[in-house]
Amino acid sequence: MTKYVIHGGKPLFGEIEISGAKNAAVAIIPAALLVDGVCRIENIPQISDVTSILNILQELGADVRTVNRTTVDVDCSHVRNAKVPEELARKIRASYYLIGALLGRFGCAEVPPPGGCDFGGRPIDQHIKGFVAMGADVEVGGGYIHAKAKSGRMQGTQVYLDIVSVGATMNIMLAAVLAEGMTIIENAAKEPHVVDLANFLNSMGADIMGAGTDVIKIRGVARLTGGTYSIIPDQIEAGTYMAAVAAAGGEVLIRNVIPKHLECITAKLLEMGVEVEERDDAVLVRRCAPLTRTNIKTLPYPGFPTDMQPQIAAILCIAAGTSVLTEGVWDNRYRYVDEFRRMGAQVQVDGKIAVIEGVKQLTGARIRACDLRAGAAMVIAGLAAHGVTEIGCVHHIERGYEDIVRKLSGVGADVRVVVTPDEEKQAQVG
Ligand code: EPU
Repeated sequence: MTKYVIHGGKPLFGEIEISGAKNAAVAIIPAALLVDGVCRIENIPQISDVTSILNILQELGADVRTVNRTTVDVDCSHVRNAKVPEELARKIRASYYLIGALLGRFGCAEVPPPGGCDFGGRPIDQHIKGFVAMGADVEVGGGYIHAKAKSGRMQGTQVYLDIVSVGATMNIMLAAVLAEGMTIIENAAKEPHVVDLANFLNSMGADIMGAGTDVIKIRGVARLTGGTYSIIPDQIEAGTYMAAVAAAGGEVLIRNVIPKHLECITAKLLEMGVEVEERDDAVLVRRCAPLTRTNIKTLPYPGFPTDMQPQIAAILCIAAGTSVLTEGVWDNRYRYVDEFRRMGAQVQVDGKIAVIEGVKQLTGARIRACDLRAGAAMVIAGLAAHGVTEIGCVHHIERGYEDIVRKLSGVGADVRVVVTPDEEKQAQVG
């Protein structure tokens, strides 16, 4: 079992380099299935979700070559298989992008329902609605989603999303780039990774307009050809380190970011008394004074991101006064609150609302990461706490944060990785 052991209370000073965006990478890598030639993808984060999606492509027959630590060449020209292995697909949420990419490439796809963090129900009805509108039959059975274009090729059409969905927007885009005619997605998601996927596809020869607005138009083309593309920096990883500085105090330059993508997070940190200075491709974050309360509601971009909700909750726990946090995207994203309470946090949850009474000091405790962002929030709470925090189940964190321990240690945090024999094996031996 691997755990992180944090001796809290040490302010952070120095620089942190942000990696490529997880939620862009996990869509852009399957998008290579649509390309006839070699895609050189740069600024790939080294995280387990990316390893999983690359493994799936290899299983399907893609040629994947590592060029250097952050660059891979992916060539899917020889892929002939449209059935995704079950074990691999269940590890990650983003395996749903294989449905759109395989439908676009072959007109058929067999993909297991996606895995990923548990926030209550995570339906994909809007993805399926889009594929059906584009002329596919979609059935679920035998542990698989079976999708097949009735005419052999996806057909352009107009799709209105009932709910703003990042996954549905990007999946329909994948299914549409090689479709016959024009696809129009209305009420589309506007997240930076939606724009990044469109930019990747356009750089390979697609014809996509309007990504980043709520109407995206995709004119189908006959073929995409290879090229080189660099993934955008990770907005949520950057926001997580901004929150870490707010929690621990100190001054850190967070490099390789797009400050515009961070504005929704910066605005709230400023309200809480954190100093944030924007540079060209960096933000300087400084916290010298005590934190003050605020209210936050998570919303689709450009609103405050749900993927920063647990991390901001960690710092609201030590902000003077009472804060109200409203989750506007997921039904059940407060499962981590019990772990915070073990550290002395005062949080009451009622449905989608958490009321947080700031305390003077959190105290270290033994806790468990219950999902990716909740795990990151526990690291942040541990940095702020008095005493020692031990975080278990850190594989959740490593799904989405490259080298989090090295990056934090580099700015003065006392965080160590401790590997102990598996408790289950110990019990068997004992
Ligand atoms: N929804 C539906 N039907 C659908 C799709 C979504 O009702 O067909 C609902 C969801 O239940 C949710 C809302 O729409 O209430 C938004 O879901 P969305 O489809 O946008 O989420 P997702 O594509 O499954 C991605 C990220 C999540 C992030 C959300 C929201 C990836 C791989 N995952 O999920 O990221 O929380 O968008 O921004 O891109 C994370 O990185 O930790 C993470 C969970």
